[in-house]
Amino acid sequence: MKVSTCLSAALLSAAAAKALDTVSAVGNKFFTSNGTQFFIKGVAYQLTEDDPLVDAEQCARDAALMKTLGTNAIRVYHVDPKSDHDKCMSVFDAAGIYTLIDLDTFDTYILPKTPYWNETQFARYAEVMDTFHKYNNVLGFFVGNEIIAQADHSLAAPYIKASARDLKAYRDAKGYRPIPIGYSAADIAELRPMLQDYLTCGGNSSEIVDFFGLNSYQWCDPSAYEQSGYINLQKQAKDFPVPIFFSETGCNQPGPRIFDDQVAVFGDKMVNDWSGSIIYEWIEEANEYGLISYGPKPDATATGADIKGGFSRAGTPTPVSPDFENLKAQWAKATPTGVASANYKADSVSTRACPASTEGGWLVDGNVALPTFGGGPVRPSATGSASGTAASPSSTNNPAPANREIAGMSAGLVGVMLFFTFWL
Ligand SMILES: *[C@@H]1O[C@H](CO)[C@@H](O)[C@H](O)[C@H]1NC(C)=O
Ligand SMILES: *[C@@H]1O[C@H](CO)[C@@H](O)[C@H](O)[C@H]1NC(C)=O
Ligand SMILES: *[C@@H]1O[C@H](CO)[C@@H](O)[C@H](O)[C@H]1NC(C)=O
Repeated sequence: MKVSTCLSAALLSAAAAKALDTVSAVGNKFFTSNGTQFFIKGVAYQLTEDDPLVDAEQCARDAALMKTLGTNAIRVYHVDPKSDHDKCMSVFDAAGIYTLIDLDTFDTYILPKTPYWNETQFARYAEVMDTFHKYNNVLGFFVGNEIIAQADHSLAAPYIKASARDLKAYRDAKGYRPIPIGYSAADIAELRPMLQDYLTCGGNSSEIVDFFGLNSYQWCDPSAYEQSGYINLQKQAKDFPVPIFFSETGCNQPGPRIFDDQVAVFGDKMVNDWSGSIIYEWIEEANEYGLISYGPKPDATATGADIKGGFSRAGTPTPVSPDFENLKAQWAKATPTGVASANYKADSVSTRACPASTEGGWLVDGNVALPTFGGGPVRPSATGSASGTAASPSSTNNPAPANREIAGMSAGLVGVMLFFTFWL
């Protein structure tokens, strides 16, 4: 119909005209193109294991409530590069919400125990970038999530670094804007800070990640800056070479969540070194991390297109109380301004030294040559074995896709994770 065509054309051009300012990484901060520092107040958003950015009406319902929560970013773990994302991306853009997109797909993860990085993986990651680079509200891409989930996985680190190097080179060769490309790490005490240092070491900015995300469930309310271990996270993040932020956080043991960690992250002690946090997660499911639910839990015999894993996965989002209101109140109080890009000197931070390997701990010795396609994989030599495990609710370490975000993690696994999280 003519009228509605005109109307949607008008709406589209209005949306285009008001597209969000792009964000880029400079030194250890994010800046919007208008010169203000950008701090992430994000939510993990994966309603099903499939692409959540294709249902425009659902995106609109969620974006509207996210806006009242004070959210300015979502993290999406899986997308289908062949689908149309225009409407969802524009709905989130209009709500002032940026997106962080994981590039990996269900069958192209870098594997922790038998890591490799080849053209097939590269092509699949690149396809996601090709689809999403055009949206102003893409804040960043992840090359992996918790690939290294226990201490003896550290030999996979050069493959993660190689993937970031190759996707950055691809982005630049294609003339895409400098969308930051980084990694999202499990919080493993034995490997922290070696992993974050390794991914930003060696002095060549083409070979390091553009940002580092940490999935940390250390702060379980009631807690505090020292007691939670955040004091140590802060020590290790001081003057970090690239932006660092919590790519998942929000421990729910024992609950309810007060989100006092947000006061710390956006407060005096951390705000100069951290770029915010992404709360795990939007939808309530078996792991009980949800900030909203789509109505009461269906009974065990209920079936329907939107019911999977025993939870409704579409509809009108209803806040989970009191977590939703608690987070909203904390974010409303946290309004850091940071530094203007004009007053910021990127060379006030520099790349880190490459860590040496240690017996039974970090197994990559120094600045090893990164794997390349042409020359074949370069396997760093092992110097020992290590134990310990720390998987978070979104761990990719279970190769079965259905187990990833849908089933999430049981309270028992959270306990295991916390047990192994010693403060370094
Ligand atoms: C700059 O952009 C950010 C993100 O779009 C926005 O929140 C902020 O209000 C803008 N600042 C100015 C001065 O335009
Ligand atoms: C990459 O490795 C995977 C797993 O071994 C394999 O299926 C795929 O064919 C490889 N791709 C190339 C281009 O060699
Ligand atoms: C930095 O790394 C890139 C990508 O690996 C490489 O092409 C370039 O030669 C390196 N630069 C220096 C100065 O080593």
